[in-house]
Amino acid sequence: MKRPRNIVILTGAGISAESGIDTFRGGGGLWEQHRVEDVATPEAFARDPDLVLRFYDMRREAIQTKQPNPAHIALARLDREWPKSEGGEVLIVTQNVDDLHERGGALNVLHMHGEHLNAWCTACDMRLRWTDPLIHRPSCPLCGEPALRPDIVWFGEIPYRMDEIHEALSAADLFVSIGTSGAVYPAAGLVRTARDLGMQTLELNLERSQGSAWFHETRLGPASAIVPTWVEELLR
Ligand code: APR
Repeated sequence: MKRPRNIVILTGAGISAESGIDTFRGGGGLWEQHRVEDVATPEAFARDPDLVLRFYDMRREAIQTKQPNPAHIALARLDREWPKSEGGEVLIVTQNVDDLHERGGALNVLHMHGEHLNAWCTACDMRLRWTDPLIHRPSCPLCGEPALRPDIVWFGEIPYRMDEIHEALSAADLFVSIGTSGAVYPAAGLVRTARDLGMQTLELNLERSQGSAWFHETRLGPASAIVPTWVEELLR
């Protein structure tokens, strides 16, 4: 593989699995005992806001008890050291809504599906860092309305900052996918964009993902083992 300059890394739930955060399609399709359709859609929120708010309150609280694992820490090291050693850029595009990349020390993280630790005011459109429950309908600090919702991209909603993601891809020469099943678009389609743009593509996953055939190279194993090995190779 030619030495890359600019690297775009897509991560999914698999990179946080060894930190104790459930993946989505691992345990029989149930997500914390809920069907995703019952909690992660605008319709679910309209139908039963308390159920949805309680679900995300539980998830928001749970992730604050988890720690980054060696895979998060290795990517953070690459994010910090690569520009200095190679003059290139690293962008971590994550589908995850936990903050383990940031707590592992990563600086350039783009949350395309939102973040548990943000709230979004549906009255004044402000997004703000939020670590407390929303079930009690707290007032928005900006407009005072009790209109805060989880800042999570639900099924049927548009992922965030896709233009920035495509801009970073057009300047990259290596696309790496870590810990994602390749089941949900548009994230799952990024590897095809990368191939169309002629860049190298690498998959690091516990098992082959649905998009595995699009990758030049696939390495299988737990992220906490194969990600640090890959970063070591790159920074050597
Ligand atoms: N190390 C590496 N990969 C792992 C590990 C691990 N320890 N454990 C699981 N995996 C892999 C699984 O093999 C699977 O391919 O991580 C992937 C997890 O897939 P999903 O559960 O589908 O999670 P993800 O791909 O992130 O889901 C994408 O779907 O539900 C929506 O918005 C939600 O962002 C999520 C999106």
